[in-house]
Amino acid sequence: MNLFQRVRGGATLLLTVAGVGLGHGCRNANSASPPRLGEGARPPVVATVDEHRQDTSVSMLQHPDYQHFGEAGAVRFNQVAKSRPIIYKRLAEYLVDRFDLSTRPGIGIDIGGGPGDLVLELTARSEQFYWISSDINTWYARSFAEDALKRGVLQRTGFVFANACDLPFKSSYADLVLSRGAYQFWPSLEQGVKEIYRVLRPGGWAFIGRGFPPTMPEEEVRALLEKKLAGGPTYDPAADADRFGAIMESLAVSHFEIIRHQSQDPAARYGVWLCFQR
Ligand SMILES: C[S@@+](CC[C@H](N)C(=O)[O-])C[C@H]1O[C@@H](n2cnc3c(N)ncnc32)[C@H](O)[C@@H]1O
Repeated sequence: MNLFQRVRGGATLLLTVAGVGLGHGCRNANSASPPRLGEGARPPVVATVDEHRQDTSVSMLQHPDYQHFGEAGAVRFNQVAKSRPIIYKRLAEYLVDRFDLSTRPGIGIDIGGGPGDLVLELTARSEQFYWISSDINTWYARSFAEDALKRGVLQRTGFVFANACDLPFKSSYADLVLSRGAYQFWPSLEQGVKEIYRVLRPGGWAFIGRGFPPTMPEEEVRALLEKKLAGGPTYDPAADADRFGAIMESLAVSHFEIIRHQSQDPAARYGVWLCFQR
């Protein structure tokens, strides 16, 4: 593990970059301009995308499970999401800056997007992108469509039922695949990340994690925690970072970064994010 200190948008980040394949044009955390969508050297191909498709040890959900993923859960979480719009706004700002989304065309997918607040914030900031909010719970579709209609972006968004571990998208389809606060629920983190890798087009990027956006100002994080609008169950971000690193190694991905912002206040844990390029 190497630690890099880096400044982006005024906030100091501690980046933990797993020491896998760093010699192959992997993004240098100190470089002035971040790689953009579709740029950078390609990692060696070690398996075909279809070989990554199936891990038979994981039970796949091929159609909606209306008994376990119902309306009450979707309504409840929608209220949670709507109580803290600043998280999705700040994450969208970060992603638009990082991946230069404001003018370029592309297809973006959020895996486990819930009511779709992140996609809605992104759609407002990326006029050439088509965004898909996907979730295992189909009851999010209604509020997502209503919100998209209200914001005047329905024609640039869609909702798709999707289990992270068996995504209903063709291989090499998306330019950007995101996921926030959902990977901890997937039946297999490894299979979910493999599926995202498969669905990404060569050169496309993924950004997967949980917690607060890496550049969110600490006073905003503290305010959310004080009001108990975020925080969630305890978990070990370092252990998750190690798992992300191991998955990158198994996929022979050389362009990746594991981001863990270290706050001044130890109570304000920012979470962990994996960013990689196919
Ligand atoms: C805590 S919510 C996060 C929602 C949203 N990403 C956000 O940040 O507000 C977790 C979401 O993951 C979804 N989810 C759980 N298991 C999933 C799976 N196997 N595949 C796709 N989504 C899943 C849940 O239905 C829920 O919407």
